[in-house]
Formats: sequence, C-alpha cells, structure tokens
Amino acid sequence: MRKVLKWIGIVLGGLVLLLVIAGISLYLVARGRLNRDYDIQVEAITIPTDEATVERGGHLVEAVSGCGGCHGEDFGGLPLFDDPTVGTVYSSNLTSGEGGVGGQFSDEDWIRAIRHGVRPTGEPLVIMPAHHFYRYSDDDLASIIAYVKTVPPVDRESGGRQLTIPAYFLLALGAFGPAVIPAEIIDHEAPHPEPPQPGVTEAYGEHLSYVATCRDCHGNDFAGGQAGPGQPIAPNLTPGGELANWSQEDFMTLIRTGTTPEGEQVDPFMPWMAYQNMTDEELQAIWLYLQSLPARESFTP
Ligand code: HEC
Ligand code: HEC
Repeated sequence: MRKVLKWIGIVLGGLVLLLVIAGISLYLVARGRLNRDYDIQVEAITIPTDEATVERGGHLVEAVSGCGGCHGEDFGGLPLFDDPTVGTVYSSNLTSGEGGVGGQFSDEDWIRAIRHGVRPTGEPLVIMPAHHFYRYSDDDLASIIAYVKTVPPVDRESGGRQLTIPAYFLLALGAFGPAVIPAEIIDHEAPHPEPPQPGVTEAYGEHLSYVATCRDCHGNDFAGGQAGPGQPIAPNLTPGGELANWSQEDFMTLIRTGTTPEGEQVDPFMPWMAYQNMTDEELQAIWLYLQSLPARESFTP
C-alpha cells in the first residue's frame, strides 16, 4: 500500500512539475514576443503642414480609419480592455498634452508607430492595427500625421499595458489571433507597396476595406466574424449573405444612417457614425469590391 501511494505521489509530483515547466515556457514565449526589440529602418517622409493636407488627414483619421474609436474622440486615450483575467490595455494619448506622445514624437516616431506598429523604444504595439495602416501611401500617411499633430492637447496619463499571467499564456497559445501584435506580421524590410489610385474601382475598395478595418469585425474573407468574445456578430458581407438582395442605395443608406432596408437600426458597435462621412466615391468603391467577392457561407461562432 505504502509503495503504491509513493508511486502515485511521484507521478502526481511529476505532472505538477511538467505543468509548471510548460507554464514558465509559455510565459517566456509571450514575454519574448512582447519585449522583442524591433530595429526598423523608417522611410523618410516629409510631413506637410498646409491646410489641404491636414484636411485630407482629418478625413482619413475621422471617417475612414476611425482612430478616435480606439483613442477616444479627443485622442487622449481610453482603456480598451479592463478585465480581471486578462488585464488592462490602454490606447495611447496621441495629443501633446501631459501623458501624451504628441509632444515627444519625431516624424520618424509617428511613421514607425502607425506604419510598423513599433514604439520609439523598439517595443511592438498590441491591438493597434498597423498591419492595415501599413497599406496607406506615403501621402496619406503624411496627411494622417499632419492632422494628428493639430489635435488640441489633452492631459491624461495612459494606463499603459498591464497583462496578467493568464493573458501571457493565452497570447503564447495564439488565442488572440495572429494580428494582436501587428509588428509580427508586417514585412518591415520589403519596399513599401504602392496602393491603388483613389477611384470607384474594386482595387481601391479593397484597399479601403483594409485601412477602414472592416475585416477585423466582418472577417478577413468578409464571411462574417466577431471582433472578440462577447462582441456582437458582424454579418457576412459577401453575396452569400444578407447583402445578396441589397442595392448600392441600401448599402449607402446603412453606412450614412445605420438603418437597414428593413428599417432596423444596427448595433452601434458597427461604427457607421464614423463611416457616414466617407465620400460617395469611397463607399461606391467598397460596395463594388464587396459585390466582386465570391459568395461565401456565413461564419458561425
Ligand atoms: C483597434 C484600436 C485602434 C485603432 C483603430 C487605432 N489605434 Fe493606435 N493604438 C491602439 C492601442 C491599443 C495602442 C497602444 C498599444 C500598446 O500599448 O501596446 C495604440 C498606439 C498608437 C500609437 C503609438 C503611441 C505610443 O504610445 O507609442 C500611435 C502613434 C497610434 N496608436 C496612432 C493611431 C492612429 C493615427 C490611428 C488611426 C489611423 C490609430 N492609432 C488607430 C489602438 C488603436
Ligand atoms: C467594430 C466592428 C465593425 C467594423 C470595424 C465594421 N463593422 Fe460593419 N457591422 C458590425 C456589426 C456588429 C454589425 C451588425 C450590427 C447589427 O446586427 O445590428 C455590422 C453590420 C454591417 C452592415 C449591415 C449588414 C446587415 O446584414 O444588416 C454592413 C453593410 C456593414 N456592417 C458594413 C461594414 C463596412 C463596409 C465596414 C468597413 C468600412 C464595416 N462594416 C466595419 C461590426 C463592424
């Protein structure tokens, strides 16, 4: 009897030891990814300050990429996650107020953060969709930076990034998806790709579907998706979904007013309040692109 108990003890002890080793390894993997030092050769781009550039930047920041949806309407930063199991992630204060990066960032620092997803210290940013913004042309990126530099200062300390041990485990196991650290999926060495010219074309619609982050909710193949656990389902936007019977007019009305052809108001999680200020040309291009997609079966969570 004693012998059996001893063996059970040894086996259980071994298992616990294995679990501890696995836990420590996962933790170290995640910490390595979050603390990796990215040495980015930042492209030199001149940031103009003329009114037309700032206005174009304002359009891209407010209507297309909805930076304020994550950074706050005043760009002073917000808690994006505040959850006892995962921890907290605050979006940065982008203004030149106290606690903001605006007063300290050089043009290179802005480009490195928005195009490469990397802080001036070389540390990668989380959640910040730089892998989409990477697609902006030099001119568009310059106007975005020109605009952000003009926003009024807001004094607000950012809560930064405080992840719990379980969050490290989940990160190492891939539970947050491949895009949670965008710097990992951007090819920092490749020559910057030239985006399509603005116009009512499928190619420009596709470009907008990235930089407007539609895919983060509706799925990378637009078959529908969910931005995160507990979030509302974003429907299939391919001709295989409800949009099959929509006209371009129906689509424009949804984006401009948040109202479906059935007269229902969509969940405010769908950020039409930002997109409603996109131009006709931009929305027509997105519509053309969505229509060109193969009909896909709708995503189910
Ligand atoms: C989906 C949410 C989201 C959107 C949309 C978003 N950001 Fe961010 N951004 C973040 C988060 C979160 C951080 C901080 C990440 C961290 O601490 O690891 C961040 C960090 C940054 C930083 C780096 C600041 C620093 O602390 O080093 C800059 C610059 C920035 N964002 C600019 C922008 C601009 C400009 C846009 C729009 C073109 C934008 N962001 C859109 C979530 C977002
Ligand atoms: C933050 C997540 C999010 C983003 C980003 C987003 N959507 Fe949505 N969208 C949703 C959700 C959630 C719904 C469903 C709302 C509801 O059912 O009330 C929705 C609904 C829609 C609908 C109505 C579909 C239907 O069947 O009623 C259209 C059209 C649409 N989105 C287009 C877009 C386009 C185009 C973009 C990018 C320019 C975009 N969305 C970006 C979350 C998002």
